[in-house]
Amino acid sequence: MMHFYIMTLFPEMVLNGLHTSIIGRAEEKGYISIEAFNIRDYTLDKHKKVDDYPYGGGAGMLMQAQPVYDCWQTIDAKIKEQRTYDNTKKTRVVYVTPQGEVFHQQKAIELSKEEDLIFLCGHYEGIDERVLEEIVTDYISIGDYVLTGGELPAMVLIDAIARLVPGVLSNHESAQTESHSNGLLEYPQYSRPELWHEKRVPEVLLSGHHANIEKWRAEQSIKRTKERRPDLFEAYEKANK
Ligand code: ADE
Repeated sequence: MMHFYIMTLFPEMVLNGLHTSIIGRAEEKGYISIEAFNIRDYTLDKHKKVDDYPYGGGAGMLMQAQPVYDCWQTIDAKIKEQRTYDNTKKTRVVYVTPQGEVFHQQKAIELSKEEDLIFLCGHYEGIDERVLEEIVTDYISIGDYVLTGGELPAMVLIDAIARLVPGVLSNHESAQTESHSNGLLEYPQYSRPELWHEKRVPEVLLSGHHANIEKWRAEQSIKRTKERRPDLFEAYEKANK
């Protein structure tokens, strides 16, 4: 059982998104749990304010340290209470930010081995650096573009990580042979009918000859990776020399 905790100003956005489909089913079946904590609930400000102007000037507002820190403390204490294993281990806190390391499948695999994971979603122009220094262990970006908040990136990460938790995917095979798990993109796939819009399913796939099918798929994987992701192909060649 893997536990996800999300610190956010928009808990319903993350929960609605993650309660559907495969991740929702995994939660119902008890393979994972997902809890969202509203950072606003932890502000000591009497008007429930969580943001303020940046020192030194500049555009936009910053999320203040206090509500973020108090929210984290609540979650951290709760995890310590529930934990049945090594209680001295610090729970990883992932801050999703365009200033992080770009996310990839290897990182998803690494994080899927954790028992508890906390995600921090920023808003406005960012978060007071001092609280980040105290609580964040991993800075992760989902790509070189900027979104309005950290909720979508946190959902992307949780989806990619949760599907690697044993039991979440019904067919355990499917996490093994897919795109990126071997450094290559996946081969093209076909289903019924055999003829559609005058396009035929490649003959070899109808042959029942498993060795030939595997060989064809491996070739297609390489061809596709070369064409669409020359950067991945180069890394693959280097690693397999
Ligand atoms: N917040 C805003 N943009 C982001 C990105 N590209 N990755 C992670 N968090 C973000």
